[in-house]
Amino acid sequence: MAAIFQGKKILLGVTGGIAAYKAVEVLRLMVTAGAQVQVVMTAGACQFVTPLTFQALSGEPVRTELFGPSAEPLEHISLGQAVDAIVIAPATANCLGKMAAGIADDLLSTIILAATRPILVCPAMNVKMYENPVVQENVAKLRQRGFQVLEPSAGEMACGAYGSGRLPEPADIVAAAAWLLTPQDLAGQRLLVSAGPTYEDLDPVRFLTNRSTGKMGYAVAAMARRRGAEVTLVSGPTALSTPWGVSRHLVRTALEMQGVLQDLFPQCDVLIMSAAVSDYRPAGLAAQKIKRSEAEMLVKLTHNPDIVAGLGARRQHHQVLVGFAAETQDLLAHAAAKLQRKGLDLIVANDVTAPDAGFAVDTNRVTILDRQGGVEVLPLLSKDEVADRLLDRVVTLLAERRG
Ligand code: C5P
Repeated sequence: MAAIFQGKKILLGVTGGIAAYKAVEVLRLMVTAGAQVQVVMTAGACQFVTPLTFQALSGEPVRTELFGPSAEPLEHISLGQAVDAIVIAPATANCLGKMAAGIADDLLSTIILAATRPILVCPAMNVKMYENPVVQENVAKLRQRGFQVLEPSAGEMACGAYGSGRLPEPADIVAAAAWLLTPQDLAGQRLLVSAGPTYEDLDPVRFLTNRSTGKMGYAVAAMARRRGAEVTLVSGPTALSTPWGVSRHLVRTALEMQGVLQDLFPQCDVLIMSAAVSDYRPAGLAAQKIKRSEAEMLVKLTHNPDIVAGLGARRQHHQVLVGFAAETQDLLAHAAAKLQRKGLDLIVANDVTAPDAGFAVDTNRVTILDRQGGVEVLPLLSKDEVADRLLDRVVTLLAERRG
């Protein structure tokens, strides 16, 4: 994970539910992403996981006591003010109730009452407990007061019940914490992002595709969400999971991708077309598996539509269109020609022959071209950083359009 929390201090509050073991992974991901994390555990949490586990991973003594010889005087005030954000994961029904009622009877609840920093609350409990009106009232109260409450996910629970109440995936909690710490310069903007390859079927078992894995487009979707946009991702087949807070449509072929994008395009402010759409598809789809024979086999291909060019022709004035150009030669000349031909505002050119750029790797080395002839050469960056730099350009274009 990129160093999204570099220089950031986070207080991770862990309360006493079985999901406390997942907080260990939350901590590990935060530390990997560069955060300095102070863990505060309730007495209940210490029944499930020992403070030593958190201490070993955070490199900081874990705080558990409000009173007594191990308690630092006044840290119940200072801890919630000296960090950039507070994340409570898992938050039990008891913890939600105390926060909603203003009760401060242990170190964590006292810290929260005195805190001045943004707070992300991640409830996790049995489904019946979560659905209990008093718990729902407490959640609503906390939201009203400016706490960010992450909806628990649905699925099978530790107690065997099925329903909503599971702690969200640690990676999603970390993504939500990153969102809490990021300036929301894309708030109110609707981004439509395409990603991944397309599969063009030849027969029931074979298809034509390319080496795209979707990593670049997924990074754009995740970063745009982190910066406050409402993001819809239209993705070809990929092994990647849906980024936190993003709505995803899975498609297979270029024609399917075109259909979904045509439906969604009128409602978006920005289209970022990072999918590696196959330019051709087999002219016919064999109903049965094609058999081996002595003769050579010729496959006739027919054109797929140029999706982004088609959408560009129906764009509304305020809409921003961004394309990608994956090239193996004459990078800038080809990219500039595509920018004009497809009616784009920006095109991101990348030389996919470089081992550290293009398909399947986590880094990219791109050049961003604009309609005015501007050429911005970016150094080797992680795909998250490339996404951020591209979104900086999108923010500028949106501001210019608003005039
Ligand atoms: O022409 P080329 O395929 O290199 O263009 C790349 C750009 O055009 C990318 O943004 C890609 O998503 C988009 N594209 C498209 N429809 C196609 C092929 C590419 O929208 N059939």
